[in-house]
Amino acid sequence: MGLRDQFPILQRKVNGYPLVYLDNAATTQKPQVVLDAMNDYYSQSNANVHRAVHTLAGEATEGYESCRAKLKQRFNASKVIITSGTTEAINLVAHAWGRANLNKGDAIVLTEMEHHSDIVPWQMLAEERGVELRYVPVTQHFTLDMDAFEHALDGAALVCVVHTSNVLGVRNPLEDIIRLSHQAGAKVLVDAAQGVPHATIDFEAFGADFMAFSAHKMCGPTGIGALLVEPSTFETMQPFMGGGDMIETVTTEGSTYQTNEHKFEAGTPRIAEAIGWTAALEWMESFDLDAEHDRLISIASWVAQCLRDVGMEVYGRHEADDAAVVSFLHPTINSEDMAHLLDARGFAVRTGHHCAQPLLTRLGISGTVRASFYVYNTREEAEGFVAEIREIVEKFA
Ligand SMILES: Cc1ncc(COP(=O)(O)O)c(C=O)c1O
Repeated sequence: MGLRDQFPILQRKVNGYPLVYLDNAATTQKPQVVLDAMNDYYSQSNANVHRAVHTLAGEATEGYESCRAKLKQRFNASKVIITSGTTEAINLVAHAWGRANLNKGDAIVLTEMEHHSDIVPWQMLAEERGVELRYVPVTQHFTLDMDAFEHALDGAALVCVVHTSNVLGVRNPLEDIIRLSHQAGAKVLVDAAQGVPHATIDFEAFGADFMAFSAHKMCGPTGIGALLVEPSTFETMQPFMGGGDMIETVTTEGSTYQTNEHKFEAGTPRIAEAIGWTAALEWMESFDLDAEHDRLISIASWVAQCLRDVGMEVYGRHEADDAAVVSFLHPTINSEDMAHLLDARGFAVRTGHHCAQPLLTRLGISGTVRASFYVYNTREEAEGFVAEIREIVEKFA
């Protein structure tokens, strides 16, 4: 069975046309093996984890913990906290590390390219703690201003940077960012929500202190993600959610906490989602992700050029390591109208600010149309998309 045939949703029609799903930066579709794994869990093994000796509880615990083991192996990481997604992972750092380690007068370096989930938690912490936030500007070439970045590092305690922009597809120079930040004495948090789906990352070799990502952007279920933490930094984090599973002992006088990742996973966790994610991670080993990435970025850069040729403004550069994301605007056709016209022919794209308002403000716009490609998208779909756009421009411009 071909890779694409494993996605039942891709067989459906939308408005009478075959679905061409180009909203992968928002969320990806799920292969049958992921749907089966979650269904099997609920129909055969459903039980709570870490709490009972019966057979089903053992199966549920093994299923949940095998997700952590798989993540440790795939990313070469020794501390993997399972969260509800990238957003919760970043909020966890703000609460569990930030509150324990940052005080009035400390500075956090962010960039104008961040998703709101890597801005708002820091603004909340800044308000609570009197921490200074410094934003690195984005240049007209859609890259971070690295001179400004080096300048901003002076006295900074933490750098928060997006691996790959969800609007531009641009992959940031993370190796330089991590090296310079550590030289300046700052910890580094990488928002890899858009990076991990396109490249396998060795977390230990990468050298970041925190890395956050979501399963649903890499063919896994919604509602689950992970925070990888460098081991000595892990020891400086304090729990922020209290409850079952994260404790060692509880008396009426007080509690002691687990020392491993469970310390940050209070309450019944996302068991079915963990089992689904494990299936997705195993499924991703069935093909060459690097080769897929090369194929997709070549499709994206071809689409970007075709769009420029019909008068679109394209935001991004589509270099080899960038993600296959094409953000664009027509000078006269409204982007919502464009998305509706595309939807009428089965093409799913995203419009709006993409949860990155500071970036769009820097670009002097309020939104874009965004087509984002993933492993099941074909060259033929891209050609159909370009043909549809040409028709829209001919009719409405
Ligand atoms: C770059 C980036 N960071 C963070 C997020 C937030 O991810 P989630 O909504 O899965 O928590 C997204 C989602 O679009 C993203 O693209």
